[in-house]
Amino acid sequence: MTKPPKVAVLGSINMDLVCTTEKRPEPGETVLGTGFTMVPGGKGANQAIAARRSDALVEFLGAIGRDMFTTPLREVLNDSDVGGARLRSLPGSSGVATIVVEQGGENSIIVTPGANARLTELDDADLETIAEADILLCQLEIPVETVTAGARHARAHGTTVILNPSPVRELPEELWREIDVAVVNSGEADRLGTALDRIAHVITTRGADGADYRGPGGELHCPSPKVRVVDTTGAGDAFTGALAAAWHRGPERALAWACAAGALAATELGASKSIPDADSIAMLLGDPLLNPGSNR
Ligand code: RIB
Repeated sequence: MTKPPKVAVLGSINMDLVCTTEKRPEPGETVLGTGFTMVPGGKGANQAIAARRSDALVEFLGAIGRDMFTTPLREVLNDSDVGGARLRSLPGSSGVATIVVEQGGENSIIVTPGANARLTELDDADLETIAEADILLCQLEIPVETVTAGARHARAHGTTVILNPSPVRELPEELWREIDVAVVNSGEADRLGTALDRIAHVITTRGADGADYRGPGGELHCPSPKVRVVDTTGAGDAFTGALAAAWHRGPERALAWACAAGALAATELGASKSIPDADSIAMLLGDPLLNPGSNR
């Protein structure tokens, strides 16, 4: 039996306040909603849960505030069997995302970072966790300086760095140097442009059209399984976390696995709630041996 990969996720955790509506409002317009729910989210936490549900061993490095969301945010990591020893509680509010999902599944999101923005330092235990991991998985909902410090330490210790540069922004030169794998959507790919050419492995997600890979062995396209879309929130996170868990199987298998995870995540409302487990992904692919936890 191959050992499951160890994935350290350095990133955000938010409480998602989700309103559903027939159509998202235009500027200045008020519309009636059809439902409301609160679901833990944040790109970091979603990706950590996705990697764990794809059978990786996962440690989450992040920050929550001291408010009404502290307990449910801690609980979602515990309940998902994601290691939370490196989750700190900082004074002030937790991260909150206000999300509007319209019929057909498209969304608009405002993230108020709260404690995520105050994750400005990595301590010795954080650095040890990163050095011991096979993969460090990061996004950009925490300060880019913290991501850079984590990535630099990872690289120095032979830990593969996967960056999902979302929400997209200019990256400092010191961070570009440390990235092994970039996972971007097509908008992020356009925004980052030729700067991505310097990354060894680039994966571009294209929603219902699947994903493209470009790397040392060439290029490949992976179609997405067809599903009935309810909510696309967190589908990219499900893709990225599943990809990290399956990366040791090589780009082709990892992409197929991740495309199926992303597709399944879009079939249910709520980011962390909709993330599929390994059995559901393998079943959708019709090939249980693709499971990253399987020994072949
Ligand atoms: O990618 C989806 C996530 O973006 C949501 O869970 C929300 O918290 C924001 O971070």
